Amino acid sequence: MNYIEKNKEYIELAKSRIKQLYNEKPKLFIETAGCQQNEADSEKLTGMALDLGYILTDEKEDADLILINTCAVREHAELKALSHAGRLKHLKEIKPSLIIGICGCMVQQEHRKEDIKHKYPYVDFLFGTNMIFDFPRLLYKVLTEKKRHFFVESYEENHGEMVEDVPVFRKSTKTAWVSVMYGCNNFCTYCVVPYVRGRERSREMTCILSEVKGLIEDGCRDITLLGQNVNSYGKDLENSPTFVDLLREIDKIDGDFVIRFMTSHPKDATKELVDFIAESKHMAPHFHLPVQSGSNRILKAMNRHYTREAYLELCGYIKKVHPDISLTTDIIVGFPGETEEDFQETLSVLEEVRFDSVFSFNYSLRKGTKAASMDCQIDEETKKERMGRLLTLQQRISAENNAKLVGRTVSVTVEGDSKADPNVWAGRTEQGKIIHFPKNGIPLEGGQHVFVEIERAESYTIYGKLK
Ligand code: 5AD
Ligand code: SF4
Repeated sequence: MNYIEKNKEYIELAKSRIKQLYNEKPKLFIETAGCQQNEADSEKLTGMALDLGYILTDEKEDADLILINTCAVREHAELKALSHAGRLKHLKEIKPSLIIGICGCMVQQEHRKEDIKHKYPYVDFLFGTNMIFDFPRLLYKVLTEKKRHFFVESYEENHGEMVEDVPVFRKSTKTAWVSVMYGCNNFCTYCVVPYVRGRERSREMTCILSEVKGLIEDGCRDITLLGQNVNSYGKDLENSPTFVDLLREIDKIDGDFVIRFMTSHPKDATKELVDFIAESKHMAPHFHLPVQSGSNRILKAMNRHYTREAYLELCGYIKKVHPDISLTTDIIVGFPGETEEDFQETLSVLEEVRFDSVFSFNYSLRKGTKAASMDCQIDEETKKERMGRLLTLQQRISAENNAKLVGRTVSVTVEGDSKADPNVWAGRTEQGKIIHFPKNGIPLEGGQHVFVEIERAESYTIYGKLK
């Protein structure tokens, strides 16, 4: 029996076990760290749990099942997840029937699995990223066998099999993430993702299209296509459709919606993709293109397979074809061996490209990666000092870019109340910028499209009024 048929069988088994165990619907609390891919995984886990008979709760204290979906990209995220797990100990003491599960990228690593096994005895089960779709079976086992379970298989062991038609629970009906592929083949030397998420595998185009069509029919307005390297989409499928082929099909769908995507690797981002964004009806004018470093020496050590010059040429082309596009990037500060000269080259890329925003991270050593054993690890003090200079520079550039928008009227997707002021709406422009505008008693809801005139701009937020 293959994995998919097995899955169906366990859905029924888990459902009846849950009915047997609980008088009323048990409650699930789920906490998610990390990237959008993890958020999308949590939406699938929640969807499957609701299908099995759970209801969602926002209160850990009320929960019968707590799931922590973890990230492993940087140490900080791991330490945070472990500290959250630590705080669950007292809940388990108060309510021994509580089931605690930890999943996601962190537990896919052997040393973390062992940590939790030995230091967190109140955690009932672990399951890695390659087993998300197996959740009904895993939960069934947890609910029937009185022991702790460590369901962590490597990608090589289970080939990262995908299951379609998984129920997905989305918080918003207006915005959605849609995974187009899983895993990564790139092995950038600093990155743990290829180890924890396995090799690239693409979803069939027909499955993605039917999910996107369904979302749009249900009123979804803003869809982000997800993959660690969307430019590799389709290479493993029959007839090898490209990412642009997929976008072309999505763009043909009728309706008032925008399509975004994350993340694009500069070595594979083609001019064809750039041209398509410019000519399409539905593509958001936003391109996230992580450069990581401006120094050719460091890019080589990172195994990024492009040069600073090729990256700058691509950005130049993007801006020429689409002058209004918003360009954003990721930077790693303090990669092993990074000299002051290398860092200056990164700063000069920021000056040349003038990104709208930059997501910058201090290099974090990841066990098992190539960079972990490189000489000349940079001390934390130097990373912090360089990061400070990078942030100051980028703040100025973002503010200057945003200042040019004052006076324009832009299309905005409402996200909800501004955190700072309940009388103000927070939203996002099509370029992905955060915008705040007074409510003035006008009833709006999350996901709604409105037009806002920009009156004032800062580096991270722009301000305007409803048109
Ligand atoms: N240390 C710091 N940042 C990292 N990233 C990935 N791995 C690491 C690491 N070990 C950053 C990269 C990537 C983003 C998602 O996270 O910039 O683009
Ligand atoms: Fe990590 Fe590089 Fe793959 Fe991105 S492309 S997930 S940085 S290995």
